[in-house]
Amino acid sequence: MTDQSMFDTDVWTLTRFVMETGRKVKGSTGELTQLINSMLTAIKAISCAVRKAGLAHLQGIAGKTNVTGDEVKKLDVLSNDLVINMLRASYSTCALVSEEDKDVIIIPAEKRGKYVVCFDPLDGSSNIDCLASIGTIFAIYKKIDEASEGEPTVKDALQPGNQIVCAGYALYGSATLVALSTGAGVNFFMLDPAVGEFILTDRNVKIKKKGKTYSVNEGYAKYMEPAVNEYIQQKKYPQDGGAPYGARYVGSMVSDIHRTICYGGIFMYPANEKSPKGKLRLLYECNPIAFLIEQAGGMATTGTQRVLDVQPESIHQRVPFVVGSPDDVEEYLAIVKKHQK
Ligand code: F6P
Repeated sequence: MTDQSMFDTDVWTLTRFVMETGRKVKGSTGELTQLINSMLTAIKAISCAVRKAGLAHLQGIAGKTNVTGDEVKKLDVLSNDLVINMLRASYSTCALVSEEDKDVIIIPAEKRGKYVVCFDPLDGSSNIDCLASIGTIFAIYKKIDEASEGEPTVKDALQPGNQIVCAGYALYGSATLVALSTGAGVNFFMLDPAVGEFILTDRNVKIKKKGKTYSVNEGYAKYMEPAVNEYIQQKKYPQDGGAPYGARYVGSMVSDIHRTICYGGIFMYPANEKSPKGKLRLLYECNPIAFLIEQAGGMATTGTQRVLDVQPESIHQRVPFVVGSPDDVEEYLAIVKKHQK
């Protein structure tokens, strides 16, 4: 950047960043860069649709429910089509799992590459029509047997999160941002709408050791497990004489998670009487977020297990989900442990 100008002539775009990090990996082919570029194109188009939804008659329901019972919005359908079409045309994927599709999507043989992508095209879609922030979440894996020419199967998608190669989310907030990790820390990239590129704004982001905020749908307190209610009570009436925590809950996970990474604290969607396995889906909601949170130095647990170590059994499986600053998650786990005795 020169003294006279605010115009940076040597910006780190997300593509440049991924290309540079990819080149350091021996034997890398550029296929992951190709995949991420296609994902980014879908994200830019979704961002554009989100911003125009009210004007372009894209608000409202599509008239069906998805496989996990959520009402499908017009913008969900459009976002899903965008991601699938861009990934299919990237020649870098072989199987896709989407929140919006009941079965694994197998890519036609002539367009296949070595990666498997699990994604939620538009998370928090109940917030679309009131203009609250929403997001896209994705996790990328390698096909189990990379060398084999065999057909990809559902098994390729049922890998634990500890096998993730790259994960990220896009947040359609007051600005559009992508948080991305290829396993060497988390970086934030902000969309410059004039240039149409994601520009690196925060390198190697780290979550605070302990935060000051708890984030949970407390309206479900009646159905929650005693350990969860005890933890929340402890945040409101601290026994150690400290200040109570602030409460924040957007109800759109990407927003709640992004705030947690930026400011610290804890986000919880635990099991409750009505949702005994929690609400959030392991493959395309919890695993990518758990990967990013851990890469930022935080923790992600189901209450009994590290999220990334859960062996998935089905593609739309749900798990209880508690993530955030390490000290906050440890404190929660200590209360859970006490209740198990
Ligand atoms: O899974 C979709 C989602 O909208 C998440 O983004 C969010 O965290 C959660 O559901 C909100 O659920 P509830 O309305 O039960 O609090």
